[in-house]
Amino acid sequence: MAGASVPSGVAPKRLLQPGRLVLATHNKGKVREVAALLAGYGLDLVSAGELGLPEPAETETSFIGNASIKALAAARAAQLPALADDSGFSVASLDGAPGVYTADWAQQPDGSRDYQQAMAKVAALAEGHAGRLAWFSCALVLAWPDGHTESFLGEAPGIWVWPPRGPAGFGYDPMFQPEGHAETYGEMSAETKHAISHRARAFAQLAAACLRA
Ligand code: IMP
Repeated sequence: MAGASVPSGVAPKRLLQPGRLVLATHNKGKVREVAALLAGYGLDLVSAGELGLPEPAETETSFIGNASIKALAAARAAQLPALADDSGFSVASLDGAPGVYTADWAQQPDGSRDYQQAMAKVAALAEGHAGRLAWFSCALVLAWPDGHTESFLGEAPGIWVWPPRGPAGFGYDPMFQPEGHAETYGEMSAETKHAISHRARAFAQLAAACLRA
């Protein structure tokens, strides 16, 4: 065959053109964090919350599955490209739990979230098992109104620790020590965490495949 070609079985990724992009979330903290990661790509960001779009139920059993639900719902409703993320914490000896249910494990009857209690539950369940392998995952799905999607999964391996260490970060940060580091996510500076995290790894994949500065 003459000329350059894409290796068979490897589909080219669809580029995200400069213009409007919906962030498929109602969480203002996530909007700020993602806006910082996407600065410099000529994207005009608007959130699903600002557009008043409904929040779909996250009924899948994988991070990519749930991010796809959110991204496709927003892309179809807004008739614009949309980006969704779904993330969580997994412990090997608990068969990957809490995994896609990471936020649910912190849910309280009054609607608030208690991460101290959620971390204590993970530690109590994992304590009796051999091995401390754990990881954070971040799935990113870009969806277009025609139903096309591009998916990326960033993972940060490490170990779970107990008692929790460090006041920084959020969620399960104080009980996770990433591989190659002596500090937990909760003990690291934000700069260090953001350079190595599951989220940073997922965004690096997305940027390399679908964005042009
Ligand atoms: P999501 O908003 O449905 O993706 O839920 C993510 C869950 O995972 C929340 O409970 C977060 O607190 C937790 N989580 C995700 N990323 C991190 C992180 O970087 N550090 C600590 N907890 C995280």
